[in-house]
Amino acid sequence: MPLQPRGRPLDDVLGQMRKEKEADADWRGGRTWSLVYPAGEEIDACLEAANRLYLYENALNPLRFPSLRRMERDVVETTCGLLHGAESASGAMTSGGTESILMAVKTARDRAREERGVRSPKLLAPYSAHPAFAKAAHYLGLELVQIPLDTDYRADVGAAREQIDEQTVLVVGSAPCYPFGVVDPIPELAALAAEHGTSFHTDACLGGFLLPFLERLGEPVPAFDFRVPGVTTISADIHKYGYCTKGASIIAHAHKDTLRRYQTFVYDRWPGGVYGSAAMAGARPAAPIAAAWAVLQFLGEEGYLAQARRIVATTRHLREGIESIPELRLHGDPVMSVLAFGSDEIDVFAVGDVLDEKGWCLDRQTQPDALHLMVSPEHDRVADALLDDLRHAVQHHGRARAHTARYS
Ligand SMILES: Cc1ncc(COP(=O)(O)O)c(C=O)c1O
Repeated sequence: MPLQPRGRPLDDVLGQMRKEKEADADWRGGRTWSLVYPAGEEIDACLEAANRLYLYENALNPLRFPSLRRMERDVVETTCGLLHGAESASGAMTSGGTESILMAVKTARDRAREERGVRSPKLLAPYSAHPAFAKAAHYLGLELVQIPLDTDYRADVGAAREQIDEQTVLVVGSAPCYPFGVVDPIPELAALAAEHGTSFHTDACLGGFLLPFLERLGEPVPAFDFRVPGVTTISADIHKYGYCTKGASIIAHAHKDTLRRYQTFVYDRWPGGVYGSAAMAGARPAAPIAAAWAVLQFLGEEGYLAQARRIVATTRHLREGIESIPELRLHGDPVMSVLAFGSDEIDVFAVGDVLDEKGWCLDRQTQPDALHLMVSPEHDRVADALLDDLRHAVQHHGRARAHTARYS
């Protein structure tokens, strides 16, 4: 679209945006089961106010905006605390899970190069690990070695033991993984990495701000955080189950040394003065830092526990509902709020098509074919309606062939 010669009235511009937005996924109504994590209007109001307050600032130079520097430090410290980091733990905020993962992979690569002289680095990650690890391997010149999954969809530790070698710079486990919501055997994988003197990353992008609260509620939570010996870095996305608006994640290091030595970039060979940054971005939006800080303050432990309770109840209800439909089968034993279900008898994508027609948005997966749900607090209002439509779709349409393209 060429730039128009003359500007348009603001009402006109916003009117067009609002109109076109009507065709977007309806997450406010609870019909979307990924991408956005709605937690209620009070939290939305907190996020909107915090974002507005810091819409224009630039987090590149913390010396100019000390309030931002303090908020980022608070968010990192709170997160390290939730993940049971020791005094030595530290970290940085990034734009999202992918950037946090890129930083973990870079740290591990550079550490292995310096400490062990590794020149052909390998990254060992479960087949179910997020594509951000493949992207990091691609960008940073590592070979990605995929650990096969066991029958329970968790990384096969025996296979990892065969695959690891002296060129392995990082072993990865997810808590939980996106496709099945299961937590990999983190203690076993981290011990394997430690035995080989190499780094281990827990990808808690999904679980970092929910598993700690589930544990406090007495739910069974497998070990995944800095209490596990051998875990060197953890990614935790506050823009997922921390309920922050997008653009906020934390890369946490067990020891601040690795953050300083292998992640942080400092440069002074240009006329513009000393330039330093802790992650990929140069100029950084201030609003995600402000929103992350504000939502942590606004909710506190009590608020996060209340949201976690809603999620537990809704996930249990959905799980029981799905398991009560004879044609459907849950994949694995998810620990948190992420469910994938398929069928040996019917075409689960045809079921997805019917749900689409009713306005629901469930992601499709393959290997095995499945529909995918990530439960947010606000889904408690619509869980029964989804189950009704799901039962109906299975009974009346499941045997029809899916007519839309299969995608994951
Ligand atoms: C387990 C896991 N890791 C990493 C990511 C990547 O996070 P982002 O989309 O914020 O880059 C996701 C995204 O859903 C995820 O589920």
